[in-house]
Amino acid sequence: MATSMTRLDSLTMADIVGEVNNAADEVDHAVPSGGDTVFTWDYERSRGPLVRLYEKAKNAQWQASELPWDIDVDQERTALAEAAMLGGFGAGADLTGTCFESWTDKEWVSLSIEAQNWMLSQFLHGEQGALVCTAKLVQTVPWIDAKYYGATQVMDEARHVEVFARYLDEKLSGHYQINAHLEALLDDIVRDSRWDVTYLGMQVLVEGLALAAFGLIRQLAEEPLLRELLRRVMADEARHVAFGMISLSEVYGGLTAAEIHERQVFAYEATVRMRDRFLMQEVWERMGTPVEEATRLVAQMPERQMFQQMLFAKIVPNCSKLGLLDAGDGWLRARFGELGILGFEHVGLGDGELAG
Ligand SMILES: [Fe+2]
Ligand SMILES: [Fe+2]
Repeated sequence: MATSMTRLDSLTMADIVGEVNNAADEVDHAVPSGGDTVFTWDYERSRGPLVRLYEKAKNAQWQASELPWDIDVDQERTALAEAAMLGGFGAGADLTGTCFESWTDKEWVSLSIEAQNWMLSQFLHGEQGALVCTAKLVQTVPWIDAKYYGATQVMDEARHVEVFARYLDEKLSGHYQINAHLEALLDDIVRDSRWDVTYLGMQVLVEGLALAAFGLIRQLAEEPLLRELLRRVMADEARHVAFGMISLSEVYGGLTAAEIHERQVFAYEATVRMRDRFLMQEVWERMGTPVEEATRLVAQMPERQMFQQMLFAKIVPNCSKLGLLDAGDGWLRARFGELGILGFEHVGLGDGELAG
């Protein structure tokens, strides 16, 4: 199913949307999980920043039942409010001669509702990816402070899966299977036997992107239950990204140039996967709209391009801080430049700013 990573540079839109999840009836998805389970007999609390993060995480636990679930969610009202904020349906794009030209507000509202169902479904699947990857990390990381902290993150992620699943079931109007690009990315992270790559793939890249995406969605959202759900999840995610950054800062200092290059390649491939996962091809299929044409048109819309760029607002500065951008004559800097996301290197958006 997965497109070979070696062909990423030459992917066309047809390739990207042609990669579909063709196991839609699948209930279980098994992936060989590489890496040794490591016990440590060194119980010394030697990593101060991880000790403090662990204490903070234990005090910051919350219950899914604390969210205001009695709020009534009206997806059509959400669709109309978002369109008004963006200047009307399809604003900013020339739709003459396209499959959207004859669309009335009814079709645009349906699209917006399906997009809500799709986006929240992908968040749900991504949260399960974080749950599974972090549980693996507890087994494979050799540091006691990281095992302790990781255990709190496993609990956080279980709660995140729980709240997104409940929101989809009780407040929205349909589920989507995992997007093929997101699934391939999660498979790659789980399959890798190197525990530091689990951190890079999940805590730094996937969760860095999730933090930005949740912040953007929250800025647009007026629906109070979703806003509160995302606020709480984002507070947890900020700790998870910090967990990755603290841990990898220690690891990367001890790697060879060749080993660092392997991490750069992983970061680049994961970034392309994350770019391609937001194209909503499954929505077009469900709506009976020509997939390639619709994907290409939406990808060209100005607000869409801005959204895609903003998603990387945390990843690029964090790769820079870890030394991945400039190692090996700036290999990753050149690749990120080609993807057009380097502008965020010095943005330094705080979590509060992203939260809006
Ligand atoms: Fe999460
Ligand atoms: Fe997380």
